[in-house]
Amino acid sequence: MLKSKTAPKTLRKTNFCGHYGKSCSGTVYNSHAACSDINLNIEEGEFFTLLGPSGCGKTTILRMIAGFITPDGGSIHLGGVDITHLEPEKRNVGMVFQNYALFPFMTVQENVEYGLKVQKKSQREIKDKSSRYLAMVGLEGLAKRAVSDLSGGEQQRVALARSLATEPSVLLLDEPLSNLDARLRDNMRAELKNLQKNLGITTVFVTHDQTEALSMSDKVAVFKDGFCRQCATPEEIYNSPADSFVAAFVGDTNLFPVQFLSGQCLLPNSIKLSSIQDNEIRYISIRPQSIRLSDSTDTDDYHLTGTIKEKHFHGASTSWTIDVQGLDFTVLETNIRSKASSLSAGSQVSLCFSKDDLHPLKK
Ligand SMILES: Nc1ncnc2c1ncn2[C@@H]1O[C@H](COP(=O)(O)OP(=O)(O)OP(=O)(O)O)[C@@H](O)[C@H]1O
Ligand SMILES: [Mg+2]
Repeated sequence: MLKSKTAPKTLRKTNFCGHYGKSCSGTVYNSHAACSDINLNIEEGEFFTLLGPSGCGKTTILRMIAGFITPDGGSIHLGGVDITHLEPEKRNVGMVFQNYALFPFMTVQENVEYGLKVQKKSQREIKDKSSRYLAMVGLEGLAKRAVSDLSGGEQQRVALARSLATEPSVLLLDEPLSNLDARLRDNMRAELKNLQKNLGITTVFVTHDQTEALSMSDKVAVFKDGFCRQCATPEEIYNSPADSFVAAFVGDTNLFPVQFLSGQCLLPNSIKLSSIQDNEIRYISIRPQSIRLSDSTDTDDYHLTGTIKEKHFHGASTSWTIDVQGLDFTVLETNIRSKASSLSAGSQVSLCFSKDDLHPLKK
């Protein structure tokens, strides 16, 4: 079991697992593991994101940190203290729930003051803090309004102010931006990140949106089916995915299974990849922006000839689907090369990439 003495507010969760279902003398029956063998180390002041598809166990992990679910095994440490069996209200952890969970019959201000009253703060401190945090999320003008009369985005801000007001050591945010429209979501991403940075509060953020995870986080843990597949910085996750799931889930990619025949690495339809020698490799990932459409005078390691099937203009960029010997490649080019934009469906093109752009994956 790991305990931290040097980093007092480090949050450590060591090999804990969570099961839903009936349990008997430590054995789990009729159950299904929501998450297993989790071993995460979250540093003080970090913006740490749990990323993964629906049902992979993100909320379960937050609820374990908050104390609403007790893990079946392992332990959770906060600032060197084992909090695994501590009551939720004694953990000094604030949570914004996936559905906000505001008190519907209270005003905005009463919602924000609630946690402070539970903490038995003085009247003066309650008023000061609720005003300060409502102002911080831009809602000072709506303090007296019933939360039922707020928009989704405003309710999200109330939930955030309510959690911040108690000044927790750790802030847990469960998809707090998922109900917002695209523009408000972009604004709130920036606001939330600034707020977190200014307050220096350790934050565990949950999302299934990989753009959100990459742009906001210091570290990202990618989950699938209750298991952590990779925990690293956004750059490492994107540039050096640990496996084919992470490569495909985080950012668009061309992910192909490979096989070795007579020592030769082959993509489907017998397309040769001469630079790959390690016969434990099972997949190859090539990011669409790593492939260039060009004539064959380039110096790249690979030149494949294909036929354009589809062209999608996105303004700043154009994406292409290109058939190479019956295998579809996606290519993304920024719209600065007038040559590329003049191409259309049916044109023959060369796809060029270097061996450094190939990410070999063993699983
Ligand atoms: N109360 C419960 N009883 C039984 N199974 C549950 C319960 N809550 C969640 N689960 C199951 O545990 C797994 C993990 O659920 P969890 O809510 O942690 O997923 P999630 O990653 O937060 O998903 P989402 O992105 O949809 O919110 C899912 O398969 C879910 O069906
Ligand atoms: Mg969830």
